[in-house]
Amino acid sequence: MLYCISSIGRRKQYMNRQEREYINGHRGGIYWFIGLSGSGKTTLALAAERELVTKHGMRCVVLDGDRLRKGLNRDLGFSDADRSENLRRAAEVAQLFLEQGFVVLVSMITPYESFRRKLKQQFASDDYAEIYVMCSLAACERRDPKGLYRKARAGDIPNFTGINALFEPPVQPDLTIHTDGNEFNACIAELVTFIEIHATQK
Ligand code: PPS
Ligand code: MG
Repeated sequence: MLYCISSIGRRKQYMNRQEREYINGHRGGIYWFIGLSGSGKTTLALAAERELVTKHGMRCVVLDGDRLRKGLNRDLGFSDADRSENLRRAAEVAQLFLEQGFVVLVSMITPYESFRRKLKQQFASDDYAEIYVMCSLAACERRDPKGLYRKARAGDIPNFTGINALFEPPVQPDLTIHTDGNEFNACIAELVTFIEIHATQK
């Protein structure tokens, strides 16, 4: 034990991102999935994570809006101010993972360009990619996996994105995945190839 303490004292205190990326064999990066509720953000992020980890051996983590709102962000609702704070906290967590060399897949509606501009300012352009999970409102509403659109139409959910709160389509996303026309496997393949190229380029 004594040996450990004295040797820790002599060693460099922390591993930096470069060291971690070297060991991981790939670059870290933040891939921010934007889209309406029901567009497929969570499904795509989780499927991409599985493939990147199991087939490509990458260090990867998903930060999902719904999940974060159950814990870290459970004090927040869906006003503009709360959404802004929700996204700010998610970006801070993403930053911590980035510093550990992770590929971070963030799946959050992120409805306004002003929110996205802030994210682009916070991260270096090499570290951040905006992925638009594009699906028409009509198709999202048909899917309605959680019955939220039905409730929103009935007036039971205030500020529901796409119904009584604005969603601004991203202006210049780095990648657009169309989930209402394309087959799911084709979407995943496109996504995984995009991430792999970014994470392995020098
Ligand atoms: S945001 O706008 O980026 O802060 O939203 P996010 O943190 O991604 O949370 C979206 C999930 O919250 C559920 N939900 C709502 N979404 C939009 N508007 C309202 N009013 C709302 N109320 C609850 C919904 O399940 C969203 O999950 P996804 O995966 O997008 O369907
Ligand atoms: Mg989701």
